[in-house]
Amino acid sequence: MTLLDPSLTKIVLIINLFAVQCLLGVPTDQARIDALLEKMTLAEKVGQMSQYNLGSQDRDVSESDVRNGMVGSFLNAGDRESKQRLQQIAVDESRLGIPLIFGRDVIHGYRTIFPIPLAQSASWNPELVKAAAAVAAREAAQMGIHWTFSPMLDISRDPRWGRIAESPGEDPYLGTLMAKAMVEGYQGNNLDDPNTIAACAKHYVGYGAAEGGRDYNTTWIPEQYLRNVYLRPFKAAVEAGVATVMTGFNDLNGIPASANVFTLRQILRDEWKFNGFVVSDWTSMTEMILHGFCVDTADVALKSAIAGVDMEMVSHSYQMYLEQLVNEGAINIKLIDEMVANILGVKIKLGLFENPYPPAEDKQVLLHADHLSTARQLAAESMVLLKNEGQVLPIQPSVKRIAIIGPLADDGDAQIGTWAPDGRGEDAITPLAAFKVIESANLKIEYVAGLEHPRSTSTSGFRKAVKAVKKADLAFVFVGEDELLSGEAHNRAFLSLPGAQAELIAEIIKTKTPIVLVIMAGRPLTITEYISECEGVIYAWHPGTMGGPALVDLVTGKSQFTARLPVVLPRTVGQIPLYYAHMNTGRPATKDMLGIPQGTPQDPIAYLSYYLDADYTPLFDFGFGLTYSTFEYSKLELSSREMKSGETLTASCTLQNTGNSKAIETAQLYIRDRFGSLTRPVKELIGYQRIELNPGESTRVVFELSESDLAYWKQDLGFGAEAGEFHLMVGSSANDDDLLLSKFNLVTE
Ligand code: GLC
Repeated sequence: MTLLDPSLTKIVLIINLFAVQCLLGVPTDQARIDALLEKMTLAEKVGQMSQYNLGSQDRDVSESDVRNGMVGSFLNAGDRESKQRLQQIAVDESRLGIPLIFGRDVIHGYRTIFPIPLAQSASWNPELVKAAAAVAAREAAQMGIHWTFSPMLDISRDPRWGRIAESPGEDPYLGTLMAKAMVEGYQGNNLDDPNTIAACAKHYVGYGAAEGGRDYNTTWIPEQYLRNVYLRPFKAAVEAGVATVMTGFNDLNGIPASANVFTLRQILRDEWKFNGFVVSDWTSMTEMILHGFCVDTADVALKSAIAGVDMEMVSHSYQMYLEQLVNEGAINIKLIDEMVANILGVKIKLGLFENPYPPAEDKQVLLHADHLSTARQLAAESMVLLKNEGQVLPIQPSVKRIAIIGPLADDGDAQIGTWAPDGRGEDAITPLAAFKVIESANLKIEYVAGLEHPRSTSTSGFRKAVKAVKKADLAFVFVGEDELLSGEAHNRAFLSLPGAQAELIAEIIKTKTPIVLVIMAGRPLTITEYISECEGVIYAWHPGTMGGPALVDLVTGKSQFTARLPVVLPRTVGQIPLYYAHMNTGRPATKDMLGIPQGTPQDPIAYLSYYLDADYTPLFDFGFGLTYSTFEYSKLELSSREMKSGETLTASCTLQNTGNSKAIETAQLYIRDRFGSLTRPVKELIGYQRIELNPGESTRVVFELSESDLAYWKQDLGFGAEAGEFHLMVGSSANDDDLLLSKFNLVTE
């Protein structure tokens, strides 16, 4: 290791900083924590472990309890003034003056709302996602918020689950990139910067595997699968320095996440050396009584503390029983001191003891033009072009009249999406508003909602809509979900379009006017029956404050489509769970097993893993997304047919822009471990490159991989790569038809 080695440099720096602190008599964080713990009563220690929600039952007792040192944190603590008032009591009127830490759900923006996190993953652009998180932090910090309950890192492979909207999608590799990007965006280079806030990796862990897609439901995840899929984004967040972790509502293999010693102590603390603090989710601790895991609230406090939940969100079991449990000897005071130290450590890193109050008020911060510009760019980079038959897009000069149909074309609240408590629908620039901006003598825009709202079943508005479409050269038909149909507890047993939206599309299709279908939703929906009838299809998700201008930038060609699906789009809800990195099974279906072919005999036409009544493949695969150009992959070459331990292998292929416009292609690298001590997925994303090429231009795309890229948690729960045959694939989506294939052997001895 040379002196210039970054890790050694970092160690040297830390030692020097420690030495300087000691020389100058500046106490280290640990010294400050120890000094505080020395002075704190047990009641005050329990106070630090208690988070109140000002917006509910705690309102009346908050000020007195803060004054008495019984509260360490608030969530939803109101505006700047409200937080300032509570903080002033804590700092000036409580016995030790320990500042409060204020938390808030800043999930995809504070007042400038970005696309829902699932859509942000569709950008495959971590740098831009990081920039958006930094904007969110700046706006939240301005309002006196110290801590966001974000990023949500629950891998989700079930779009019936309402919270897929908040998730990074189905793939752990993409999830790790989003985790790192958001933690770094929120927290910046140092937490005591007034424009940064503490992040929170949630909901630890496995919450997205809820049975039936029903929120809060049971999760059964074998340890290898837990480590190979669900834990990976959380590990990435910890490696990025996330300050806090939040436990989930789910019971994981029979043990609720808030009392799960294995995940909270063995993995999070012992293996990953996480040094921040753990907070429970809402009443997830006391819900362990309903889970049938704790007999009463005292048992809740005992088991949560033993597992290592440092701070209790709103359910107060610690306040009610921790002192008693310590005095009875059921809990050692050392454990309490460790947990309080974790909390104080984050408060010290945030600089709250020096700067407990919000930065000087700057009314320019919220919805700043730069923030809106970032939101516009991220919205544009999150919308996925699924179909563009006959180059219906970008809008051709011959188009003189456009019909805008569907209530979601002008619904700011829906556009903002779920979990945007400080976002406002009236801030949103809707697609209709954005289309109106480009209206001119040469381009007429006519809007007909056709339905009163997306869930309406009344067809009374159809005639007027059809009439507008008949007169138009092109129709943009906006369908999907309002913001209340996704998000926490908002699960759906069907993925079809709500209300009479499907009927509206059917009526409009009859007009023969070219149609661009724009889906705005918080989850994958089943759109199978309309795809063939529409010339263009765009998956716009819930794109946030600037969704309208972003969409118009894209459809006019001012911006390029670059997004790729972060989840598969199923053909029907009956396929769920459906994801690309599935196992092969012993009877994989063949490509022609696409439903009931004519003349199917009474017996199934083959004893393979498929459906009699539906095509078993996704409608659109993970990683799929069109651009305004076309690309061709060729000449996949490997530097060797063997990768020896400790060596790297280079895979390269030619990528050519075979279309007529400059475009950015996302070249994806997948591997398949053909034989393992466990069955292995048919493919796993391990890398990608976003490459811009001019028309006709080609380049060699080069990926370098090593043994660590092939490693996984094996049957014996060791982590590593196993010798044998590997498939390597490069292409434009997880669909085999879009991939070049090569093979190599890993030799480990
Ligand atoms: C909710 C959510 C969690 C959120 C918390 C605070 O129940 O599960 O994601 O951060 O409560 O609002």
